[in-house]
Amino acid sequence: MPDRVLVTTGDLEHAVRVNAQLEAAGFDTAMITSFDDVRDALRRREPDCLVLTGALHEPGTARLLALARERAVSTLGLVETTEPDPKDLARELGLTAFLEKPADTAEVALVVRRLVDRRRLQQRTGIIGESPAIQEVLVKLEQMAPVRSTVLIEGESGSGKELVARGIHDLSPRRDQPFITVTCAALPEALLESELFGHEKGAFTGAAERRLGRFELADGGSIFLDEVGEMAPATQVKLLRVLEDRTFFRVGGVQPIKVDVRVVAATNRPLKDAVGLGQFRDDLYYRLNVLSIYLPPLRERRSDIPLLVRRFIAEFAAQHDRKFHGITPEALQILVDADWPGNVRQLRNLIESMVVLAPEGEIRASDIPPDIREHVRGLPMRIVGASRDVAGKELEFIFRSLVELKLQVEELRRRFDDRPAPRRVEVIEVDSHRPALASIDAEAAEPETVLYRAGMSMADVERAAIEAALRDTRGNRRKAAEVLGIGERTLYRKIKQYAIA
Ligand SMILES: Nc1ncnc2c1ncn2[C@@H]1O[C@H](COP(=O)(O)OP(=O)(O)OP(=O)(O)O)[C@@H](O)[C@H]1O
Ligand SMILES: [Mg+2]
Repeated sequence: MPDRVLVTTGDLEHAVRVNAQLEAAGFDTAMITSFDDVRDALRRREPDCLVLTGALHEPGTARLLALARERAVSTLGLVETTEPDPKDLARELGLTAFLEKPADTAEVALVVRRLVDRRRLQQRTGIIGESPAIQEVLVKLEQMAPVRSTVLIEGESGSGKELVARGIHDLSPRRDQPFITVTCAALPEALLESELFGHEKGAFTGAAERRLGRFELADGGSIFLDEVGEMAPATQVKLLRVLEDRTFFRVGGVQPIKVDVRVVAATNRPLKDAVGLGQFRDDLYYRLNVLSIYLPPLRERRSDIPLLVRRFIAEFAAQHDRKFHGITPEALQILVDADWPGNVRQLRNLIESMVVLAPEGEIRASDIPPDIREHVRGLPMRIVGASRDVAGKELEFIFRSLVELKLQVEELRRRFDDRPAPRRVEVIEVDSHRPALASIDAEAAEPETVLYRAGMSMADVERAAIEAALRDTRGNRRKAAEVLGIGERTLYRKIKQYAIA
């Protein structure tokens, strides 16, 4: 399929020259005049790249760019020299790249080539993201794929290590050979060894037949050693040997077996720490860490969140055959600000559940579970890896983490205390001889305060809270639900239940 580019004619002179150059460079190009035509062409022609030659400040441009982003179409903007801060404008508009005018057409063609190649790479690997961190991962992936050197991928749980490992294999000359995964933490030591290296008939009780290990099964292809940091010391020695000369013995075997396997390993706790704690051999660490890729946690690349959200919404709406409009700006902002300890996996799972459950065919702030909303922009927390034996050094590590955690909680509390008073319904106690809630003049009470009087049931309090929230939001049920921290549907149910007018 030829690489398709659309060129807008905001600046006709540039457009004509750029279009000619792109055509000469082998792209399938078209010039498009009105916004409507561009929108239409984005849907019909499915271009790989959109070049905007002008009119960047026109009201329709932002909407157009949003549509391009949704379709993962790369965008290149040609910015006027009079623009005070082109970088800022590009960021604001969400352009993938920009060039200042007068743009050299050969350079435009080069940038478009780079953008299209990057897009293809992302389509092939399924790795979404425009953040510098993800772009760096993609560059590395391209460089590392063709060779056989061992790669170590580090990153928190759910940050995309397996996706990257598969990407390396799929882009490598081994792509038609097997890609075999072994989760090193899932198996006890003896089983893991026989899983990796196979065993001879009668090697141990129950070994009725010879069995090939994963290294043999991966011959010619790649093996992905997930959670390699959890491997027992004896197995680590054997792995070291395979990495050194690509030979090993089956369990109970005497014949060395040689294989041609590319090793990609992953760990969700820094392997260097495990080396420092004496849990992982340093020689093995260096053997694994020939090439390395680090996937930062999602909270350190928040600019990727809108893109991930939109793509996951589209994916799950199609998968569950739901007509879905998208997400409101407030809801998206909450997702961008959330902490995501479970990284992309957590975001992806949440989007799936919201696509299935959101009543209006649109994700709204009130659809987002409170635990996500509450964990917003916290301090980065270190996740302690689970280990089989909790030795003294590990205890020390856990202890240090707990101290760290305690400091973080204190910091959070301090920040919480410093915050301006939140807009929410408060419940306070009053003397029982004060008048009951029903008889208090609504004007006289604090506008966002619900009064509790001895004798009130939980239902009374709930009802009063709902009434106060509705009053406070002038009857806007969506806002009231948000204030109360419940779903809009729950609010409707309760309004009905308490017969609130
Ligand atoms: N950049 C990304 N773009 C699109 N999807 C992603 C991205 N990163 C992760 N995912 C998705 O998130 C989920 C978790 O990713 P993956 O399994 O690769 O994480 P992991 O780092 O291997 O996690 P763990 O350490 O728990 O094994 C997968 O469904 C994966 O497709
Ligand atoms: Mg994984």
